[in-house]
Amino acid sequence: MSNLLVVDPEHPDPSAIRRAAEIIAAGGLVAFPTETVYGLGASALDAIAVNRIYQAKGRPSFNPLIVHVESPEAARLLTTEWTESAALLANHFWPGPLTLVLRRSDLVPANVSASLPTVALRSPAHPVARALLRACALPIAAPSANRSNEISPTRAEHVLASLGDRVDLILDGGAATVGIESTVLDLTGDEPVILRPGSIDRDTLSRLLGRPVAMHADSVQGPRSSPGMLSKHYAPRAEVRIFDSVSELRELLQTEKFAAKRIGVLSLGPCDSSRATVIELPGDPHVYAAALYDSLHRLDAVSELILIQNVPEGTEWDGVRDRIVRAGSS
Ligand code: TXA
Ligand code: MG
Repeated sequence: MSNLLVVDPEHPDPSAIRRAAEIIAAGGLVAFPTETVYGLGASALDAIAVNRIYQAKGRPSFNPLIVHVESPEAARLLTTEWTESAALLANHFWPGPLTLVLRRSDLVPANVSASLPTVALRSPAHPVARALLRACALPIAAPSANRSNEISPTRAEHVLASLGDRVDLILDGGAATVGIESTVLDLTGDEPVILRPGSIDRDTLSRLLGRPVAMHADSVQGPRSSPGMLSKHYAPRAEVRIFDSVSELRELLQTEKFAAKRIGVLSLGPCDSSRATVIELPGDPHVYAAALYDSLHRLDAVSELILIQNVPEGTEWDGVRDRIVRAGSS
């Protein structure tokens, strides 16, 4: 029997959700759609189940997981310090693609957070994710549903290709609409710090909080305050190069050392090349983000080299730019 179950993304069949909830309650693994990317879920209160997530993904034990909750009230139980900022942000952006890092309460097993004193919490907006959280009445620990270091899944078939039967059930609720992972905001220090940019950008957060929000200067050499943020993350199998202009692209396409290679191009706006497989993405950061990973999955399947056009300056592009830079670092 296949482990893939198709559900209506808006009104998922209650019996499918019940089956998924039973698997979670019994300590199993369920991949499910969220608005950002698909998650690989297990009960966040069950250390053994959480360990299965690390094993299935081949994820290093120092990389903590995000815990998904149905509501701010459910989040409060998992932290010892539900701050004013947390309440303000949760009321404004939840359900949605914002993850808050707060002090971890004893209810949350240490391996969820890779033994850090903190926990990352998010209430997803996707109706399937919400129905699942309601049905199992448990917080669900869920990283993106891909093997460690691969491109995140925005469709159920990406999950199936990456994890196959390492997961007990995959709920197929169609394509993710946001398309890149949530913004991760650390609220445990003196000032709020974005550990991972996403579709909710720095200016928006700072406006709401009424104070500056810092961006974590993350690098492989830097301090590991967000241990998962290794720069070689989200990387296609193919070699990746980033280019700025169409003339630079033309030069790259003529480079002798690439002459024999199958080339894919991800361009911003129109790009006319018969030499390569081209996917043109639009100049709106949200529409771009929604298509980014699916485009990378497609190009990765047919290319040895992927050339990605750089995106504009500005905080609304931070999330996309971050993923492109990561895809390009080796
Ligand atoms: O949109 C998302 O956030 C998706 C969906 C499934 O919700 N999840 C996701 O999870 O992207 P994952 O595991 O692929 O990324 C989690 C990120 C990692 O960069 C990790 O280091 C960071 O969140 N993180 C988790 N817990 C943390 C903590 N306690 N302190 C700092 N960073 C944390
Ligand atoms: Mg991930």
